[in-house]
Formats: sequence, C-alpha cells, structure tokens
Amino acid sequence: MACQCGGGCGTDYGTPARVSEKLVTLEIDGIEVSVPEGTSLIRAAAEAGVQVPKLCATDSLEPFGSCRLCLVEVEGRRGYPASCTTLADNGMKVHTQTPKLAEIRRGVMELYISDHPLDCLTCSANGNCELQDMAGVVGLREVRYGFDGENHLKDKMDLSNPYFAYDPSKCIVCNRCVRACEETQGTFALTIDSRGFDSRVSPGQMEAFFDSECVSCGACVQACPTATLMEKSVMDHGQADHSVVTTCAYCGVGCSFVAEMKGDQVVRMVPDKDGLANHGHSCVKGRFAWGYASHPDRITKPMIRAKISDPWREVSWEEAIGFAAERFRHIQAEYGKGAIGGIVSSRCTNEEDYLVQKLVRAAFGNNNVDTCARVCHSPTGYGLKQTLGESAGTQTFDSVMQADVIMVIGANPTDGHPVFGSQMKRRLREGAKLIVVDPRAIDLVKSPHVQADYHLKLRPGTNVAVANALSHVIATEGLVDEAFVAARCETKEFNDWKNFVSEQRNSPEALEAATGVPAQEVREAARLYANARNGAIYYGLGVTEHSQGSTMVMAIANLAMATGNIGRLGVGVNPLRGQNNVQGSCDMGSFPHELPGYRHVSDDAARSLFEGAWGVKLDKEPGLRIPNMFEAALDGSYKGLYCQGEDIVQSDPNTQHVIAAMEKMECVVVQDLFLNETAKYAHVFLPGASFLEKDGTFTNAERRISRVRQVMAPLGGYGDWEATVMLSTAMGYPMHYNHPSEIMDEIARLTPTFHGVSYEKLDELGSIQWPCNEHAPEGTPIMHIEEFVRGKGKFFVTQYVPTDEKVTQKFPLILTTGRILSHYNVGAQTRRTSNTAWHPEDILEIHPHDAEERGIENGDWVGIQSRAGETVLHALVSNRMQPGVVYTTFHHPFSGANVITTDNSDWATNCPEYKVTAVQVVKVTQPSEWQQRYRQFSAQQDDLLKQRETVKAQ
Ligand code: SF4
Ligand code: SF4
Ligand code: SF4
Ligand code: FES
Repeated sequence: MACQCGGGCGTDYGTPARVSEKLVTLEIDGIEVSVPEGTSLIRAAAEAGVQVPKLCATDSLEPFGSCRLCLVEVEGRRGYPASCTTLADNGMKVHTQTPKLAEIRRGVMELYISDHPLDCLTCSANGNCELQDMAGVVGLREVRYGFDGENHLKDKMDLSNPYFAYDPSKCIVCNRCVRACEETQGTFALTIDSRGFDSRVSPGQMEAFFDSECVSCGACVQACPTATLMEKSVMDHGQADHSVVTTCAYCGVGCSFVAEMKGDQVVRMVPDKDGLANHGHSCVKGRFAWGYASHPDRITKPMIRAKISDPWREVSWEEAIGFAAERFRHIQAEYGKGAIGGIVSSRCTNEEDYLVQKLVRAAFGNNNVDTCARVCHSPTGYGLKQTLGESAGTQTFDSVMQADVIMVIGANPTDGHPVFGSQMKRRLREGAKLIVVDPRAIDLVKSPHVQADYHLKLRPGTNVAVANALSHVIATEGLVDEAFVAARCETKEFNDWKNFVSEQRNSPEALEAATGVPAQEVREAARLYANARNGAIYYGLGVTEHSQGSTMVMAIANLAMATGNIGRLGVGVNPLRGQNNVQGSCDMGSFPHELPGYRHVSDDAARSLFEGAWGVKLDKEPGLRIPNMFEAALDGSYKGLYCQGEDIVQSDPNTQHVIAAMEKMECVVVQDLFLNETAKYAHVFLPGASFLEKDGTFTNAERRISRVRQVMAPLGGYGDWEATVMLSTAMGYPMHYNHPSEIMDEIARLTPTFHGVSYEKLDELGSIQWPCNEHAPEGTPIMHIEEFVRGKGKFFVTQYVPTDEKVTQKFPLILTTGRILSHYNVGAQTRRTSNTAWHPEDILEIHPHDAEERGIENGDWVGIQSRAGETVLHALVSNRMQPGVVYTTFHHPFSGANVITTDNSDWATNCPEYKVTAVQVVKVTQPSEWQQRYRQFSAQQDDLLKQRETVKAQ
C-alpha cells in the first residue's frame, strides 16, 4: 500500500535497493537476514529491522562513506567498517551496537555538534532533523571541545532562491545535496568548495543559488539531513501536523506528493518515495509552485452578468446555475439542440471530465464536447489507435532504464517533463545512446555528462520527411526485424510501407534539401536506432502540433514496429503527454466522436450500453470539435459554452479569430480558479477547485491512474464535479453521486479497460496502469507484449506533404513554440507563484545571424508578424536556434504568442499547427496594436470584476 503515514519518507534503508537473483545470508545483531547480492550492510540491517545511526547515507543516493557514524563490527575482520559502503556477504556476523561503537559514534557527533549552532528549539527543522535525532540516538551528553574554537557559526545565509534557504552555519558537509543534484536531478549545480575544515557547499563557483545552474527541483533540500537547506514555507509555518498523499496537477509525469499540512495550510509538498512515476523526485513546479491555490486572485463566489460589458454580480450557486441553465435552454429552444456544448480541461480529474461529457451527451443532448487534448495530443490518439490499436503510450517511465538507444523527437523532457527528463539523463549517464530530432538545441543535446550522439536539427514542419528518411535506411540496408514483422504485423501493409519508404525520393539524400539534415547523419542515426538491443522513442508536441501530426505519429509507430522495438521493457512508442491528465481526458470520452474508452458514437452497441446506464437516448452523430465550435459561433449557429478549467482564449491558435467567436456567444459559462482570458468573455463564472481541493484521479503519460486526494475543502464551497451535477440537474437531467469514487465506479462498469479500477484498489496498489480488468487485475505496465491491441500491427504509408505555411519574402522566418521549466501552459497558476522570478515574460529566441541581419540585439523589443497577426516581445540572441527559425514560449497572455499562430491544423484531428508559423521579425519600440487593445480590454474587465456587488444573504 502507498505510504499514508504522513512522514513522506517511511523507512530510510540507508542505500538504494539492489537487484540480483543471487541472495546472500548474514547475521546482524543475531538476526538472520537474506538480501540481494550487492546490498550494503546498513540496508541489510534495516531490512532486519536494525537501524544503524547514519548521516551521510540515505536510500535515494549511492553511499559516500564520509560521516563515519554508521561504523559496525564484523566478526573476523579488523577495524570498524562503514556499513553504508561495506557490502553484505554470506556468513557475515555483524554487530551494530557495542560499547566501542557507541564511543566512536559519540566522538563523531561531538565533532559535528561543536561546529553547529545550538538553536534546536528555534530551528525550523526542530523535530525533523537527522542531526538532532542522531545526537539522541548515540546518547550525546556533552561536547568536550566547547564551542569557542574555529567554526562556521557566523556563515551568511543565502536566501536568493524564492523557495528555499541555504544556511551554511548548519552544514555538516555530508555531501547528500551534491549527490542528489548529480544522481537524482542530473543538473550538477553543486560542489563542495575547498577542503578539510573549509569545505562548503557551493552552487556553481560560489554563486548564489538563484544565479547558479540550479533548477530548483528541491532534491538537495529533500536530501539534506539538517536545516541547512530548508523550505521557506517550513520556516514560515513550522513543521506539519498531518499529511495526505496526492498527485501533482502540472504535467503528464504525474508525480506523487505527500502534502504536509498544518490545519488547512500546506506547509510543504514532499515528493513521495513510493510514487511509482517519480520515486521521490520532483521539479520546481510540483515541489514549490502550489501557492496559487491561495492567491488573492482566486474567485470563490459564483458570478453572473448579462453582457460582457457589464460588471460582475456575485450570486449564490443556485442563482448562477439557474441563470446558466435558463440561458442554455433558451438558446437550444431558439437555435436548436446543437447550439451549445462543453469544453473540458486536461487539468481536471477523470471523474470531472467524465461528468462533463455525460452532461453534454445526456443533458445537452448532443456530442459537442471537446478537450484541450484537441490542441496537443489528439494526433497521438488517432495515430496510435490506427497502427497499434490503442490510443496510449506503450511503456512505464521506468522502462527507459532498460533502453540502449533513446530517440527524442519534438520533445524537451528537461523542461516539459522534468522528473522523467532526470530519469532519462540517468540512463544516458549509464551509457545509453541519444538521438535528438528537434529544430532547436534542447538541453539534452548537451548538458553535464550528457551529449546527444546525433542531433538531427530539422527544419520545422519536416518531421515526416525525416521519419521517412530514417525508415528508408532501415528498409534498404536490411535493418528491418523481419521475424518480428512477420509474426506481429499485417503483411500487405508492411510491404506497401517498405516499398514506399524504399523509393529513392524518400532517401536521406533526396530529402536533405527539405529537412536541412545532412543525409549521412540521418543514415547513422537510423542504424544506431535499428541496431539497438532496445530502442525507445519519446515524443512530444513537436510531433503532434503540425499539419501532419497524425501522419508523424503513425510514422513513429512504423519505425518501432519495423525494428521490433515494441512489446517489452526498454523500447516502445512513448508520447510525453503535456498536462497532468491529457491521457485521462481522452480516455473519458471528451472527444466529440468518442464515448469513454474510445468507442465511436456511431457504434450502436457502445451507445446502447451508455443509453441503458444513463437512461437517455444518445446522438449518434459526432459533435463539434473546438475549432468547429468557433466557426459555428461565427456563423451564428453555436451560442452557448460550458468551459471547465480550460483557457481557450489564451491557448488556442489565432487569438483574434477565437475572440471574435467568443464575442458572438450568448452564454459562456467558465468554471475556473481565476478570471482567466476566457472568463473575460463569460456571462457566468463558477468558482473552480484547485487540485488541493479535489478528490479524484489523474492518468499520466504512462496510463497510470493515481489518486488525487483532497487536502483542504474547496474554497468555493463545491468541488468541480458537484457544479457539473448541479448544472445537469438544472438542465433537467438529474445526476446522483455522493462522492467521486461513485463516478469512478460508473466509469469502471462502462469501460472495459477500466473494469478493475476502484478507489479501494488504487489505495491498495498506489496507482494502476490501465488496462486494468479481468485479464490484468493489477494493470498493464507494458502494452502489446504478445500481440497488438488491434491484433496485428498495421503499417501506414506516410507520404510527406509539406505544410501550406511557407516562408515568403514577406514572412521569411519560421516561428516555433514550446514550454519552459518554470511555467506550465497558459501560466495562470505558475504566474501566480514565485516561478515568475525565472521567467517573468515570454521572449523571442533568434539566431545571431538573423538578429544581426535585422540589427537586433539582446533585450531589444521585436515585432513578430505573421499572416494572422502581430505581437511584440523582447529578443534573446541564441545559438540554440538554427538560422531561419525563431522560438518563443506562450505562458504570458500579454505576449500574444497565439495572436501570430494560424488556424492551420492536422489533417486528421484538427490539432493546430502551433509549431510552424511563417513570420517576419523587426526591431520596434512599442507593443503591437493587439497588445495595446489587450491591455485596455483587460483593464476594463479587471474594473468590472472589482465592481462586483457582494450578495449579502445567500
Ligand atoms: S547542505 Fe545539507 S546535505 Fe548538503 S552537505 Fe550540508 S548538511 Fe549535507
Ligand atoms: S534544487 Fe535541484 S538543481 Fe538546485 S541545487 Fe538542489 S538538487 Fe540541484
Ligand atoms: S510538473 Fe510534472 S515533473 Fe514536475 S512535479 Fe509535477 S508531475 Fe512531476
Ligand atoms: S552513513 Fe555511512 S559513513 Fe555516513
């Protein structure tokens, strides 16, 4: 069972677990214990229930052997070996408690304490400090050396990091922080400066933490056994009094956290050692960027207004829901049943997503429901379903530790999926080879102790050409895994594919002019991947957000099948899902053509199953996708929208087009934490609940379903699911649930891949990777082992069709977009935390050559114009770019990154082509017209919010 104890740590075994089929048996303090070969004595002792005192050892890090506190006696051996660095062996007889050991340990502790402030009672770690604990354990009663000798007690604190403090006066130089930064995080930001008594932990070259390479993941804080590295939130609030295990609500890694609480106040979020996606690691967002939940901008009372130019009016939940339902009914009466719909967010829980699609289908009576996965990974759903038979990634994250060759395509794991990025870097440091396919030199291309073997620096928009060129080499150089293909794949489709990619026009040489990637590099990269014992592909939005997004997903599946890299550990096709619950929102039937479990609405059997359960007739015609909703709004046939947790005005492409559509609607209901960009166009605002206020589940990029547990009551009084229930009931379709677990029970009843899922089982197992059913009662870590979900794997011919978005004389550069570590998506949450210290604005990265040609220098204001619009950002001249390509992030609404992106989209799914926009960049002196209008409109909306009347009696 996952740790629920609240300590967030459980037993610390001193050194990491070892895996070996060979066991060794020894005796520790008279207790016989058998452990895998390679296990340390300290761990063997812990497994026998014997705790050996320690300071420099912890089970998340390799042993270091510096503190000398863990010494033991081994019969027949001289001296007192350190139990953290001595391996267990057959027949050993070990003693951990003898008078001599007690004397040595007290001596060691005396030395530490003589150079340590004696302020335990006022120290923020009081009650949670290993040094304090060890002083007690060894029975330290006096410090014979006194406290007047040379010491570090006056060393200055470093408070530069927004989230944690470094107080060198408390440092015992155990090196745990340095090792955590290296081994766990892989950033190598810390060293021990100087030697002997002068040794000090140093970020970079004795820099402040904030100015160093540190990415604020918190691993060093977690590892520190003293109060030297300490969360500022703990310094402010004191130690927690209880805790709850929950799941991070930012990215698709789905890290498990122990929320340490004092009453209703979060004291800190500690990454959960038992978390199967993160194994006790975290990034700056999940670890520290949770303060938005109690930000003063939170709106906690429902509000309504007749027109978007009116001030908001605070009303009761009943009035707000009644107002929305009345307007929706009126719209349907006047414009037809299909004139309203809903959009759900991949930030919401599975249960919330399920209920919104049920509301739309059962209460609204149409299929006009869509999710923000439309604009990120809808091509993954389509492409993997077609080729492999299931719309999901094939592996666990841990599978990467068995990969010998890793190919990363259009993804930036160290920024977008940082905890998995750290795991991948660990595997790369162990010797796995790396191929990066990306227009930009992402961190993985070259970072401490990691260097890509090949960086295929393609032109944006040419993914499919590169995949075809890689396939050409595999097909024509005899690198196909013929046995795998013959046994596991459809023969005709494979032959069609092979003939197609073997054509000369698909050779690396023929495609070099289009892709910009030297043919020889493509050839070598293809050989490396195809010859790998285990080759794994990881990809992201740089694959999907293209006019050929779905084609590229199929091309990736083709590559994996052709080389037999699927169906076992270390291989596979692994989409790195953007937000925390992209996988889940797709699984839950949030697309307009699919019921939960990816069953098409035209499938009579599936529809009648839901009709029976829901007691209502369902529409068999697919509903509107998000872009179709905008089109329909503009042509006057779509008038009402329920938008839960999604900010379409900031996140969808071609902002001006989106705004024009929003302005045409008669009833927009937004349910969110803040007055986001979409809410500025809304008529009803329903307070949303943050992840800390929710009960439910998220499904991460590995199909892992994890519990989200409420740590505080919803500030708005109701959970998001309850608001949906109220709206449905007011629309004439009552829903009856007492708790989200009952919603999951319904999902499990109706969805074959979820048949075995329940909150009880999640509590028992910690988390579950679907499919979880009669065939796989504890879930399915690796998919397609014996056969593909669709039976035989199906190759598709992936013709490269260049995008319509071409560079011209007027727009000679290509803009591509991406994310940055410190922010997530529209930034509504991270912008309301201290993460803004790292990234206060979106900037435009431009190659020195393009910058020089335009007279642009670092920090200049530059106007970026496309055929859709214009915006202005500060410039950063960067060699990470290739000439002809510029790059920005999209986390700040004023940046208007999506004012420039166009409404080109993927041919199969309408996923927008965010990654390719032809632009011109020029030096300017002021914000664009759109930005000036945006400022004015936002100021007006802020005023209208301030004018809200408070309803006295509710
Ligand atoms: S800062 Fe903490 S973890 Fe690092 S060496 Fe000092 S006491 Fe050890
Ligand atoms: S916070 Fe993370 S990156 Fe920064 S020094 Fe600590 S371990 Fe390294
Ligand atoms: S943002 Fe992603 S990587 Fe970071 S803590 Fe949350 S789930 Fe983990
Ligand atoms: S814990 Fe073994 S030497 Fe420090």
